[in-house]
Amino acid sequence: MTLGIISAMSEELEILLGAMEVESKNERANMTFYKGKLWGQEVVSVVCGIGKVNAAICAQILISEYNVSKVINVGVAGGVDKNIFPGDVVIANNLVQYDMDTTAFGDPFGQIPRLDTFDFKCDDELVKLAEEACKENSDIKSMTGRIVTGDQFVASVDKVKWLETEFNAAACEMEGASIAHVCYLNSVPFVVIRSISDNANNGAHMDFAEFTAIGVKNSTAILKSMVEKM
Ligand code: ADE
Repeated sequence: MTLGIISAMSEELEILLGAMEVESKNERANMTFYKGKLWGQEVVSVVCGIGKVNAAICAQILISEYNVSKVINVGVAGGVDKNIFPGDVVIANNLVQYDMDTTAFGDPFGQIPRLDTFDFKCDDELVKLAEEACKENSDIKSMTGRIVTGDQFVASVDKVKWLETEFNAAACEMEGASIAHVCYLNSVPFVVIRSISDNANNGAHMDFAEFTAIGVKNSTAILKSMVEKM
């Protein structure tokens, strides 16, 4: 079993790469794929860059060229649920691309025309493993819910309200649902785990800078507990 681990930004993968015994390093599509052992598990770790296109390309390379059998996406997200705050962790149960919009044809927001789903469900076992890992790290507050993805850093009260009412989202970010989409098309199990860096409101860019480090520490702790049990 080889596990693929994707983060969007180098700071999100920094601690993990420090803990990894790297056996090989390869460049593909302007991304560096690190193959090796992490906490006793065969992994390929990669920083994909920000946004849905980068994330989708990266997930497909992991699957097609590295034959990964499971994919975990870790990183930070904006909090949407009212009970979630910077430092907390959201485990995705399912993910939607909120910026997919064919409402002109009567479709709901997020629907991907001519695909049988647009609400990509994470693997039950990986979700359970992530929930158990959160219990072990009892200082970290966590919830399981829907994460929504779009090519936008959300920094507006109105937008965050819309994400909550339209999608019942727990958190928003810029890669998860596109990784989920690729994994779905390839029948590869996946889960997305995100630490909250901001509340996606007017001061989001400032909170983001302050809380990203804490978020990365938290999501890495969860990932370590998970990987050790695989
Ligand atoms: N990642 C972290 N915070 C975010 C936000 N507010 N919007 C989109 N992606 C994010």
